[in-house]
Amino acid sequence: MMEKIVAGILIVNTVSFIFLWTRNQNLMYAIFAFSLLSLFGFTVGKEFTAEWRGYQSTFIKMQIEKEKNPETLESLKATPIKILQVWNPELGVTDRCITCHQGVDNPDFADAPEPYRYHAAAREHDFAKIGCTICHQGQGRATEADEAHAKEIEHWDFPMWPNNMVQVSCPKCHVRVYEKGYHLAGAEMLETAREITYGNNDMGIECTSCHTIRGVGEVIAPDLTEFGDRTEHEFEQTHVLKHVEGKKNMYNWTYQHFLDPQKVTPGDPAIGMEPTIMPNFGFTPEQAHALTTYVESFRANKMPVAYVYNEQSAQQKATSDKASFISEFESQFANFAQLPPGEKLFIRSNCWFCHAIDNKGGKISKDLSHVGSRMSKEAMKELFTSPSKMGRHALGTKLNFTDNQINALSEYLASLK
Ligand code: HEC
Ligand code: HEC
Ligand code: HEC
Ligand code: HEC
Ligand code: HEC
Repeated sequence: MMEKIVAGILIVNTVSFIFLWTRNQNLMYAIFAFSLLSLFGFTVGKEFTAEWRGYQSTFIKMQIEKEKNPETLESLKATPIKILQVWNPELGVTDRCITCHQGVDNPDFADAPEPYRYHAAAREHDFAKIGCTICHQGQGRATEADEAHAKEIEHWDFPMWPNNMVQVSCPKCHVRVYEKGYHLAGAEMLETAREITYGNNDMGIECTSCHTIRGVGEVIAPDLTEFGDRTEHEFEQTHVLKHVEGKKNMYNWTYQHFLDPQKVTPGDPAIGMEPTIMPNFGFTPEQAHALTTYVESFRANKMPVAYVYNEQSAQQKATSDKASFISEFESQFANFAQLPPGEKLFIRSNCWFCHAIDNKGGKISKDLSHVGSRMSKEAMKELFTSPSKMGRHALGTKLNFTDNQINALSEYLASLK
């Protein structure tokens, strides 16, 4: 739209230059001046009518509808509208997706329409730290939906995965997904494909009887270890795409090759090339899709160790009574939407991990059932504003709250008398 307007203005100016230069220069300058003004107007207008602003004000309205506490209501009304981002130089992440997808970590929005909906993966993964593109790809910096989702962008090498392929990213951090028999909830499609590659297919053949995968296997066929690391462009240069039906891209080549290898790689009699020896396994479309997703996930892994899923520490957590807390957590979750905002935060920020209230929660630190009789709301606000003042609280506790949240949390705790 904007591009068309600019092009229109340029054409008008060029035409007026040609026609008016010798005839009416005053009129010509007037047209120039008017064009400049309108360009300036459009630029400013575009900024203030940006798509994401609309999503943010709707999100605020939705929160206001759910909110009953008058104090929180006031602060909600005053919420600034601004670009939000997750910035993590260690991961090379600058993701502005949360500018529109604001409800991702708020269970109150479990039934909300996109882009406001709560995201189930938020319970295991810290979006504020790892962002979104680490799993989804897409163009993190963009603030317009089409560009961010980058489904059709020509010069962007990491288009957003369709929903049914996001699992490509799980093995970046969950490396054991490649081990026979290992289970990771949410990565079932990869598991299906993995078992096929280990010989669980109609022919009973392991792919490694021809291919090398991560150092294991034969060298009769291409090494698949870093299959997914090629960009679309690199793939095009090394593969014959003319036998692919529909859009000629990496996905379709790979998917159709699984369905019928000889159709996609029929050889070329002109240069004496035989059809491929890769057998036609008779895969179903679902299996071919799963396998395509699976081989796309084969990449050189550059994930910093600190972000990788660590079996041991996760297990330690699980054994330290976490199981019982979680069931407690779940039962509170059931009526989560009805709880006062401070209590929601208390649950959501995992405070219950160390502090119990009315026997619900951990015993690592003080019981807070009656904390309101020991501490005033003001003292709590101070504690949450600068947790480092309380040396031991700084330990392992993430306490970067906004003023509104600090207020809600303090109000809730101060009410426990
Ligand atoms: C300008 C606002 C905006 C930004 C920025 C944005 N999105 Fe979206 N997103 C939307 C809207 C609106 C929808 C729902 C309509 C649609 O599917 O296009 C959506 C839908 C989605 C979906 C579901 C698509 C589907 O097919 O079901 C995913 C996944 C998604 N976004 C991921 C992302 C990621 C990852 C980023 C950052 C790289 C991002 N979005 C940035 C507005 C945005
Ligand atoms: C740990 C990996 C991971 C991260 C990080 C992640 N997502 Fe997702 N997301 C997924 C998976 C997997 C799905 C697909 C779920 C399905 O449909 O099976 C998904 C689905 C979605 C959907 C579509 C939901 C629907 O209706 O099906 C949206 C929108 C979305 N994600 C947005 C985001 C945004 C925004 C972020 C960053 C704040 C984000 N995701 C971060 C893994 C992730
Ligand atoms: C950036 C790294 C990263 C990516 C990518 C990632 N995860 Fe995770 N995931 C983790 C970490 C770290 C944990 C452990 C969190 C904890 O214990 O606090 C985890 C925990 C989990 C858990 C809970 C397991 C347990 O034993 O507690 C599940 C299930 C899970 N992830 C599924 C997925 C799925 C499915 C995907 C792909 C869509 C995915 N993850 C992608 C880092 C990642
Ligand atoms: C009998 C040997 C053989 C077996 C078994 C075999 N392949 Fe292949 N595969 C080949 C050959 C040869 C090629 C290269 C020619 C072609 O493109 O078909 C190939 C190509 C591929 C490619 C494209 C590689 C690239 O970089 O272009 C993929 C992906 C692939 N195979 C996956 C698999 C998977 C997954 C299995 C197991 C389900 C498997 N193959 C089993 C011989 C085999
Ligand atoms: C890793 C464990 C841990 C977590 C998680 C944790 N705390 Fe604490 N908390 C402590 C410790 C340790 C103290 C100091 C107790 C002492 O004075 O000896 C403390 C003290 C407090 C106190 C003062 C209690 C009193 O009676 O003096 C409050 C209030 C409090 N925490 C609130 C919270 C809130 C709210 C959260 C969640 C945002 C939270 N805590 C998360 C460990 C934790």
